[in-house]
Amino acid sequence: MIELKRLSPSDGIEIYDLLQSIPREENGLQNKVNGMTYEEYKQWLIGKQVESEQEGIVDGWKVPSTTYWLYVDGVPVGFGNVRTYLTEALKKVGGNIGYGIASPFRGKGYGKELLKLLLTKAKEAGIERALLTIRKDNIASQAVAYSNGGVLTETADERVYFWIDTN
Ligand SMILES: CC(C)(COP(=O)(O)OP(=O)(O)OC[C@H]1O[C@@H](n2cnc3c(N)ncnc32)[C@H](O)[C@@H]1OP(=O)(O)O)[C@@H](O)C(=O)NCCC(=O)NCCS
Repeated sequence: MIELKRLSPSDGIEIYDLLQSIPREENGLQNKVNGMTYEEYKQWLIGKQVESEQEGIVDGWKVPSTTYWLYVDGVPVGFGNVRTYLTEALKKVGGNIGYGIASPFRGKGYGKELLKLLLTKAKEAGIERALLTIRKDNIASQAVAYSNGGVLTETADERVYFWIDTN
């Protein structure tokens, strides 16, 4: 069974271990928990939950985002973030949705499933068209976007831009 679970302050060691296995940064995807102690992670969970419930734009980069864990048969294998609001900065780098699968679980179709489920969350949050900003050399992520109905609308020096209709 494949399902998303929303980040919660009650998340425990299995999510902590997942996030230690995912780099702090990969292809623009940030994972600040990598390198944190367990206590720091528990504080981070609280902050993330508060942030996801904030309304409106906080500043140029920091807008409310909601994090979800992807579980496959009860095992967490990846995560994604949904941002409801886009600033001019986030229209260039970041977009509405970011995602990652831990490396032992890649190449099994989970990235495609993860984005599909995140798009349903984006739709529930009122996003009609979701923007994905993907590095030009990130072929796997572009394949994930295409397989979910992504339309490549722009190519810049470092990134390509996909829009996905959430309906
Ligand atoms: C991008 C990412 C989420 C893909 O996850 P995944 O579980 O391996 O993806 P899937 O198994 O669903 O594969 C999706 C497609 O990518 C292709 N693919 C997977 N790994 C690939 C690779 N290393 N090179 C080229 N294509 C690859 C698959 O063949 C599949 O293509 P298909 O639709 O033609 O069958 C994962 O590689 C990842 O977490 N990368 C690091 C973080 C990141 O780049 N996030 C995206 C930021 S925009």
